[in-house]
Amino acid sequence: MQYHDPSFSADLIRWQKQHGRHALPWQNTRDAYKIWLSEIMLQQTQVSAVLGYFARFLERFPTLQDLAAAPVEDVMAQWSGLGYYTRARNLHKCAQRVVAEHDGVFPSDPALLAELPGIGRSTAAAIAAFSSGRRAAIMDGNVKRVFARVFGINTYPGERKTEEAMWARAEALLPEAGIESYTQGLMDMGATLCTRSSPECTRCPMQPRCVAFATDRVKDLPVRKPKKATPEKHATMLLIVDRDEVLLEQRPASGIWGGLLSLPELDGHNAANDDDDVLPEPDAAAVAAAASPFGAVESQERLKTVTHVFTHYKLHIAPLLITLAQRTALAGEPRYTWLPAASVADAALPAPIKKLLLELLGNRTDAQARMF
Ligand code: ADE
Repeated sequence: MQYHDPSFSADLIRWQKQHGRHALPWQNTRDAYKIWLSEIMLQQTQVSAVLGYFARFLERFPTLQDLAAAPVEDVMAQWSGLGYYTRARNLHKCAQRVVAEHDGVFPSDPALLAELPGIGRSTAAAIAAFSSGRRAAIMDGNVKRVFARVFGINTYPGERKTEEAMWARAEALLPEAGIESYTQGLMDMGATLCTRSSPECTRCPMQPRCVAFATDRVKDLPVRKPKKATPEKHATMLLIVDRDEVLLEQRPASGIWGGLLSLPELDGHNAANDDDDVLPEPDAAAVAAAASPFGAVESQERLKTVTHVFTHYKLHIAPLLITLAQRTALAGEPRYTWLPAASVADAALPAPIKKLLLELLGNRTDAQARMF
């Protein structure tokens, strides 16, 4: 069987018996109510934070029946401060379901446990292992970290394929006997030795087999979530100039540069990740149509694309310099303004647009200088 290796569980069980945790209040019992409660509390919370809540919760709700019969408000009040409150609502629902559907006794089959509110595949396996000695695999963040290091898994564990492979390993490595110590051992190793930022490899029972240790990659595994590529947007902006003035358009109040003056846009398109020069030069007819409210086009010239980096995306601006043979007076278009070149530095323009205009003013070609 792929991944099968009985020495893995044997080493882990031996270590757990000698060096693992044995006196936690939910250990040394087969009481499924207490085990279930502890596993839910421990889902997103550390042992040290859970201890007090666990004791107070059991005082207030000594049995599953007490919990099921209590008003949900009382359950929420007992949970208050522990966080992730969906857990508390599901806990209450789960208690009522076990009372109604299982005669108040938690099933021992992990598949049945996993059908109950708040109990996922891993939590179901932990409850079944600790309360009934059932062989079932757990897989939480700690186990993923241990596996990523010991087996040198260098793909992101949050990715479906990697996670499935980790589950397959977890199933294949289950011991024939001693599931309780084995399961607790995985949890203990992840929480006390194979920690995220300060692993204690010298004390680790897995060190001789650990791929990450052998290849000096302990700090690099598990690999972190890959960063999403920054979205890139492209826009052709019209630089319509005439008699030492440039045509500007007030942007809509919402969206980027809301309410600021900017250059009119001819078109735009979005691309996940792209070159910065993807927009073709617009054809003369499209340009003539876009510029027609302002005058007759004399010339058009694509200028160098400039890129502006926002926090969440990159904007590639492809400026299209347009000179007019004849300007048409603006009629009923309050969004549009002719701004004198001398006023650009002080105008309410977005920084990259102002920069583009000032650079153009500073580096005009002879042809541009005639008009602008
Ligand atoms: N984290 C999740 N389950 C645990 C358990 N049974 N003991 C210690 N830490 C845990």
